[in-house]
Amino acid sequence: MEERESTRSAWRSGRRADGKQALIAAAALATAICAAPAWGQSPPAVDVAAWPALPPQPPTDPKHEAFVDGLLSKMSVEEKVGQLIQADIATIRPEDIARYPLGSILNGGDSSPDMAARVPAPEWLKLADAFYAAARERKGTYVPLMWGIDAVHGQNKIIGATIFPHNIGLGATRDPALIEKIGEITAQEVTVTGQDWVFAPTVAVARDDHWGRTYESYSEDPAIVATSAAALIKGLQGEVGTPDFLGAGHVIATAKHFLGDGGTNGGKDQGDTLASEVDLIAIHAPGYVAALKAGVQTIMASYSSWRGLKMHADRALLTDVLKGRMGFAGFIVGDWNGHEQVPGCTKSDCPIATNAGVDMLMAPDGWRDLFAAMVREVKDGTIPTARLDDAVRRVLAVKVRAGLFEKPRPSARPFAGKFDLLGAPEHRAVARQAVRESLVLLKNAGSVLPLKPGRRILVAGDAADDIGRQSGGWTLSWQGTGNLNGDFPHGQSIYAGIEEAVGAGGGTVHLSPKGEFQDSPDGKPDAAIVVIGERPYAEMKGDLVTTSWSAMHPEDLALLKRLNAAGIPVVTVFLSGRPLWVDPELDASDAFVAAWLPGTEGGGIADLLFEKPDGSRPYDFRGTLSFSWPRVADQVVNVGDVPYEPRFPVGYGLTLGGAPAAQGATP
Ligand code: BGC
Ligand code: BGC
Repeated sequence: MEERESTRSAWRSGRRADGKQALIAAAALATAICAAPAWGQSPPAVDVAAWPALPPQPPTDPKHEAFVDGLLSKMSVEEKVGQLIQADIATIRPEDIARYPLGSILNGGDSSPDMAARVPAPEWLKLADAFYAAARERKGTYVPLMWGIDAVHGQNKIIGATIFPHNIGLGATRDPALIEKIGEITAQEVTVTGQDWVFAPTVAVARDDHWGRTYESYSEDPAIVATSAAALIKGLQGEVGTPDFLGAGHVIATAKHFLGDGGTNGGKDQGDTLASEVDLIAIHAPGYVAALKAGVQTIMASYSSWRGLKMHADRALLTDVLKGRMGFAGFIVGDWNGHEQVPGCTKSDCPIATNAGVDMLMAPDGWRDLFAAMVREVKDGTIPTARLDDAVRRVLAVKVRAGLFEKPRPSARPFAGKFDLLGAPEHRAVARQAVRESLVLLKNAGSVLPLKPGRRILVAGDAADDIGRQSGGWTLSWQGTGNLNGDFPHGQSIYAGIEEAVGAGGGTVHLSPKGEFQDSPDGKPDAAIVVIGERPYAEMKGDLVTTSWSAMHPEDLALLKRLNAAGIPVVTVFLSGRPLWVDPELDASDAFVAAWLPGTEGGGIADLLFEKPDGSRPYDFRGTLSFSWPRVADQVVNVGDVPYEPRFPVGYGLTLGGAPAAQGATP
């Protein structure tokens, strides 16, 4: 393994330094007829029969098949190749479709119509209509485009949309009915702005919390991932086998990233998963089994490798296992230039990925040259016709099942253009419920919680009044950075929620991020709520070298200690995309709430921290950990380990009364 790794990195660095690179790449391509082993590597052996065998969902429909056959017989090579390429709206205009009949567009995390920073919702719908019209008006065989978007916690790219807790919080709810509802609302808000397809759910089983995408994972426990992912897919697409499937207000879902993205060595993003095949099946595959049973129509290949082989080149897992054994009848989309990382490939040329089984390449900026290369490779046989036709057939079949051939322009579809559905009160109420259900109470010494709303409350911590911070990555921007409260017209910060609750109870609130109360007209507070935690990040930028919070942010611990020393009861609300080592902060707090990345409905936090003015308690904590909480910094610990010695195990969480939180109690 090590040897293979070093060979590969030597090759990679050679790519930059060595002018002979083009020749080497050309030689690799020439030999890449049937793709399988990426250059210099033998693929890990796979025992196909050891994987679960599943029937296609939905079952094959002869009418659809005949329609697809008819289309296929009319399509030119260029039209077929076009279906296998996805471009980013940053680099393609509707008028390009006349010449490049692509099958799909996406907007990456930082792409939007006209690439302006904060684009009003109607612009998205207008652009969807323009692409629809371009595909309609093109001469030749009509095939509708499909637009994919990363709606991973609500329609999170659009100003005003409802932003739900990230998956790690939803895993803590253990409430599939709620997750399904979130899927329905997300789909509806997506159709408002005209997209057809979402790149969600992430079904990663994150096993090392140094990974910067841990928050996109429902759990380290495959069973929780499976249940949650199936529920989200049902909400997004509608229930497979019913007329509601991919009907009005629904969108096509994606299970990602196949396979083993959460299992990389050291939790390195896009890294190498060293798991045995047995562990791959037991830990990383169950989310896909559940997703396939729920009828998921697309699956995204992972950037990561399995035992040294890039997933985009892993023919055994993509084709033999997923499409063969597991009966997947939808299509595999590549990740953002993921094919570029396959040795021997560039972003505009990669027959290895196509031949390995990636049906549609996500080629945000390399699509023009990729189109030319693929047309050439089909004509010279580098990409066999059978493979081309199989891939196109899969893409067309998904479009047929989603009704895209009959659908009118995006703005004429149900819910489209109903912009007040974005962040509608009913949607926000569900998001607020999700916040309440996702909070995990780790400590409540002396029953400091719930607080009485009639008291003097200090709200401290630099995350207290920051909706962007509580929403995390994949929020308006790719990394979730650069967001101001004003960018969330329907959102509420945690502080604003507290102010509302305390105001209703006749108490007073003083906001001071640094925790100063000397200048407060109310003097010394009765209690302090301190909101601290991670700053937004996403893939590529979120990996950690240490999980010790006090090592990263000693100022937070100092703040807690200072308030504690002043004799003020301290309630810490910790925002994070993963469990982190916080023993010193736990010690310096009377109560400690793991709040994950709750999204726009900050009021859900106050719902649990305070009783009502009349002393009633309509809500209680019911969230329980879906990840093991570390006992020491940098501990890599997962449920099922022997010995299993976390600080708090999966399933841990307290109620206000101090008993273990019971799943299914009052939301
Ligand atoms: C991510 C995917 C995402 C895609 C499109 C990639 O970098 O890994 O999760 O769907 O970009 O934005
Ligand atoms: C895009 C993301 C993408 C990432 C990967 C970003 O510029 O906005 O969607 O996942 O690049 O490189």
